[in-house]
Amino acid sequence: MRVILLGAPGAGKGTQALRLKEKYQIPQLSSGDMLRAAVEARTPAGISAKAIMDKGGLVPDETVVGIVAERIEAPDAEAGFILDGFPRTVRQAQALDKLLAAKNMALDSVIELEVDDAALLGRIAKRASETLASGGTVRADDNPEAFEVRLSAYHAQTAPVSEYYRQRGLLKTVDGMASVDDVASAIEQLIDR
Ligand code: AP5
Ligand code: MG
Repeated sequence: MRVILLGAPGAGKGTQALRLKEKYQIPQLSSGDMLRAAVEARTPAGISAKAIMDKGGLVPDETVVGIVAERIEAPDAEAGFILDGFPRTVRQAQALDKLLAAKNMALDSVIELEVDDAALLGRIAKRASETLASGGTVRADDNPEAFEVRLSAYHAQTAPVSEYYRQRGLLKTVDGMASVDDVASAIEQLIDR
């Protein structure tokens, strides 16, 4: 099973990807997590991405496509995967199509979590305070200034990705304002249909 989760910053992509990973025993491929790992490891890609990510902008397509493509090649992704946060531009979606076609793979579903903009910042703030309370490190982009840039990037550059998949008959939408459990059930119903 190959699924893409689309949605604004804080929409619940990571939360739902983890649920799907447990249920279907396939890896969660989060481009944000991969980039944060590259930043942490100070790889060349990580070093150049850090300043962009901290401000909330999108990392160049070439960088992200390279990192994700390598991850899709890993043996554990052969039976399927959940893409979380990728693709985020139409160019990334086109690159993914090429990559999958070369491997004779197809996407099963693209699921968009629809959440009101007004609810997103509160979720990000809650995640940041919970991370602090548990002694973790808050993401460098989990602050109101970077969030505004992330949200603008989402509307300007990622919204056309939904249209790209809608035109290909792959897009399904879920009410992301519902509880985590209800969103998970709605996604499972779409996948199992
Ligand atoms: P990325 O890591 O992908 O971050 P994001 O898209 O901004 O989204 P988040 O991870 O903040 O939110 P989420 O949707 O995963 O929500 P979560 O489940 O955590 O990207 C970070 C940066 O990396 C980008 O800005 C960019 O710079 C770069 N990048 C990454 N991918 C890229 C790409 N493809 N191209 C270019 N650049 C890229 O939930 C959030 C909170 O809400 C949690 O506290 C959770 O508990 C809560 N919550 C979840 N669901 C619900 C619910 N149903 N009800 C109530 N609360 C909920
Ligand atoms: Mg996430």
